[in-house]
Amino acid sequence: MRLSKFLFWTAAGVGVGAAVTVEELARNVSRIEALREIKDVTATFAQLAQFGRYADMAALFSPDGALLWGNTSVQGPEAIEQWLETDAGDMNGRRPGSLDTMVLATPLVNLAVDGKTAEGRWNGWRLQGDGKGATRMRGGIWENEYTLREGRWLLGVMRYYELYEGDYAGGWRNVGGKDFGLVPEFHYSAEEAGVPIPRGEGRAGGEVGRRIEDLNDEDEVRNLQHAWGYYVDRRLWGEVGELFGSHNWGVVRVDNVGVFEGPAGIREGLERWMGSEGLKQGVLNEHLIFDTVVKIRDEVDSDVPDAERMADARGIEIGLIGDQEKGTASWRFSFFQNSFVRRNGIWQFLNVTIAPLVVANYSSGWGDGGVMPQSTVEPVFLNYTARGTKTPTAQTTTADSLEELSRRLYRSYGYEGAESISNAYGFYIDFIDGAACSLMAAIHHPFANKESPFAGFYHTRQRVLEACTQSYGTSARPTRSGISFHWRPQPVIHVSQDGRSASLRARLLQPATDKTSAGTIRGGMYHDQMVLDENGSWKLWSVTIDEFYWSMSSWKEGWHGVEVRDKNAPDQPPPRDLVRQYPPDLWLSEMEGPREVGFMGGRERYVAWPEIQRMWFGYRNPVSGGVLEDGSYWPGCVPCYQHKPEWGMTKHGWQEPPTGPTLVRAVFAPGNGSSEWDDGTFISVWVTPGPGEVVEGVVRLVGKEVELKYVLTQKDGGRVTFELPRNLSGGFHLLEATFSGSSRLKPGKDVIDLTLPGGPGSLLGD
Ligand SMILES: *[C@@H]1O[C@H](CO)[C@@H](O)[C@H](O)[C@H]1NC(C)=O
Ligand SMILES: *[C@@H]1O[C@H](CO)[C@@H](O)[C@H](O)[C@H]1NC(C)=O
Ligand SMILES: *[C@@H]1O[C@H](CO)[C@@H](O)[C@H](O)[C@H]1NC(C)=O
Ligand SMILES: *[C@@H]1O[C@H](CO)[C@@H](O)[C@H](O)[C@H]1NC(C)=O
Ligand SMILES: *[C@@H]1O[C@H](CO)[C@@H](O)[C@H](O)[C@H]1NC(C)=O
Ligand SMILES: *[C@@H]1O[C@H](CO)[C@@H](O)[C@H](O)[C@H]1NC(C)=O
Ligand SMILES: *[C@@H]1O[C@H](CO)[C@@H](O)[C@H](O)[C@H]1NC(C)=O
Ligand SMILES: *[C@@H]1O[C@H](CO)[C@@H](O)[C@H](O)[C@H]1NC(C)=O
Repeated sequence: MRLSKFLFWTAAGVGVGAAVTVEELARNVSRIEALREIKDVTATFAQLAQFGRYADMAALFSPDGALLWGNTSVQGPEAIEQWLETDAGDMNGRRPGSLDTMVLATPLVNLAVDGKTAEGRWNGWRLQGDGKGATRMRGGIWENEYTLREGRWLLGVMRYYELYEGDYAGGWRNVGGKDFGLVPEFHYSAEEAGVPIPRGEGRAGGEVGRRIEDLNDEDEVRNLQHAWGYYVDRRLWGEVGELFGSHNWGVVRVDNVGVFEGPAGIREGLERWMGSEGLKQGVLNEHLIFDTVVKIRDEVDSDVPDAERMADARGIEIGLIGDQEKGTASWRFSFFQNSFVRRNGIWQFLNVTIAPLVVANYSSGWGDGGVMPQSTVEPVFLNYTARGTKTPTAQTTTADSLEELSRRLYRSYGYEGAESISNAYGFYIDFIDGAACSLMAAIHHPFANKESPFAGFYHTRQRVLEACTQSYGTSARPTRSGISFHWRPQPVIHVSQDGRSASLRARLLQPATDKTSAGTIRGGMYHDQMVLDENGSWKLWSVTIDEFYWSMSSWKEGWHGVEVRDKNAPDQPPPRDLVRQYPPDLWLSEMEGPREVGFMGGRERYVAWPEIQRMWFGYRNPVSGGVLEDGSYWPGCVPCYQHKPEWGMTKHGWQEPPTGPTLVRAVFAPGNGSSEWDDGTFISVWVTPGPGEVVEGVVRLVGKEVELKYVLTQKDGGRVTFELPRNLSGGFHLLEATFSGSSRLKPGKDVIDLTLPGGPGSLLGD
């Protein structure tokens, strides 16, 4: 897609000056809905493959749609279904013991100017087995085209480039044992990578408030689902439990293991399925989440207490499990379908269903169908279409100004922009050479900073470029014998209140392939920030790579066959050549404090799998708002937080994105703490954000007869006490305390009810 102008949503256009029209807002809403539906179509294609539903997969193509798979080319849904069926053979997910797990990860989608077609690049795998011993592994890149037909997004062309393949026993290698050129070409330029939606044409109408709320809620639910996965990986069962909120509801069902209810039950279920709290040396509990589709429900269930809204999420999970000390390891291929509820503005889990399809011992592989009985869970695919046809609800017909709606919409656009630029980075690094160095640098903001692994951080785009060319030269490398891919799946993205900046955590999932030896997989973690620049393009602001948390010594030995590092080896290897030739602006080894302790190139003795390295979180628990008990909390731009505050985005006019919910607690305080009941009736409101986060904003206390407002400043320490008017009528009062108007913190609210007697006297509150 070649676009000549990139004037999308320039920073100055946000609610400033330019009059916002409802038609324009509606058009922008439908553009973001389009991006979401395109991603959902693709994720659903992958989800259906798990059950060999090839006819349903083919139905996701337009009538003239084409499937180009390697050197095969078929056109039209019927032929596509036929081909999919034949190609899978008995490895179809339908035959007992068979497996067909396809994942399409790390989307980078660009919509065309007219909003009617799009192109998208994905990294992915297809791991198959027939249950009778035969297996097949494939990996590659998709460059797809999408088309809008009669209000639905469909696959126009699915173009799959197979880059590596093999069977389970032998592992995967480059297809044909050949070198790679640049396969395939990127459908976007470096500038387009950060502009998933170009400046649009055309008008649209329709209800927008509800649809924007859906988009914002989708972001929160997707974050919650992905954040769940990161706590699960570390077996942080306390954190996982908090994701269900404090309602003592909550169900975890693990198919063929049990149904577990309530806080104690949930912990028991998680322990039964994945082991006891925490990771001890040698334990791997990776549960990679792919192809998550989120659907906001139209209605809430009346039997779910305090439900404002409800949602469902569905996706694919690949578990890499093992214990190096015991020499055991296994694969777990599952799907999940989970429900969520929003209470007081905070999304939380309601129930979780994990349905393992094939669980297999690492040594024998999944070819024989594995060790779990057949799943009994009926897969329920989510209907992601028709986002644009929502009717207003009471909640969204409040007269929010168009500027306010536009701000909220920007936040969902920010989610998309951050995901695109994150994946653009991975795609360029996959094919790193002198040419890719300039593309990789070009998706950074001029004042960005980026870590070069095991060395340190380089500040400014120019220095990022030079650090790259120092290692990879300045010219394109026509071929390479292997690739270490840089997938960045499962993002948790926090977008700032004005929608112009974001923080992102994603996995580094690194499948590697080579001409001659079998490939391996290893994993790390990214902690990044992005900004919307003056030209309307999303750019990287800060890139931190914590690696590696786990690895394989070889395909045959697996992740459980890695030897423990020699206790007598030096704490750190000699510095990389890069460090001497082109010294970083901030050396990992010079970052005082705990952040780089245990990382290679960092401080003290580096920790190598199967030892367990500390894992950092840039956000708080998305439901409880708490940070990890051991203090592994490091928000925002990693080098900026304690070492280089001057590199921070707030110094350049961007807002620091929130790190989690802002908790608001309203408490009835008779006589404001004194025992004199007839002093008056007081409500104290506490606003609690994350550690070090400044509480400034507006607190409102609103009921039928009450409307009080207070502007909190830093000196208030997050608390205000309101005195209620003395002339309130007797009886029941429902009061809503809200916190908003902060540029950094998420709005939050609490509800308090009071029963006032006719006159002064006893008061009841909760
Ligand atoms: C297509 O590719 C397969 C496997 O890579 C190969 O066996 C087959 O010969 C190819 N067919 C054509 C027509 O090139
Ligand atoms: C909608 O998008 C256009 C660019 O396509 C941008 O100029 C405008 O500010 C946006 N309007 C709103 C209300 O979000
Ligand atoms: C595979 O299963 C066998 C038999 O139960 C067991 O001895 C072996 O340790 C397992 N291998 C792995 C890698 O878990
Ligand atoms: C989860 O909750 C939703 C909404 O109440 C319900 O439809 C679904 O059946 C529940 N699933 C399980 C496994 O409890
Ligand atoms: C999805 O929802 C739309 C709109 O409500 C409806 O027209 C369509 O039939 C649904 N699709 C499926 C597969 O249920
Ligand atoms: C915006 O575009 C102009 C013109 O191409 C360019 O000079 C400027 O550096 C760009 N701004 C950023 C932040 O990249
Ligand atoms: C209660 O609040 C009132 C009004 O804000 C204040 O004048 C009074 O000193 C407070 N009393 C106590 C015991 O804090
Ligand atoms: C209660 O008193 C306030 C002033 O303190 C006044 O503005 C309000 O109208 C009164 N409400 C009623 C119901 O009398």
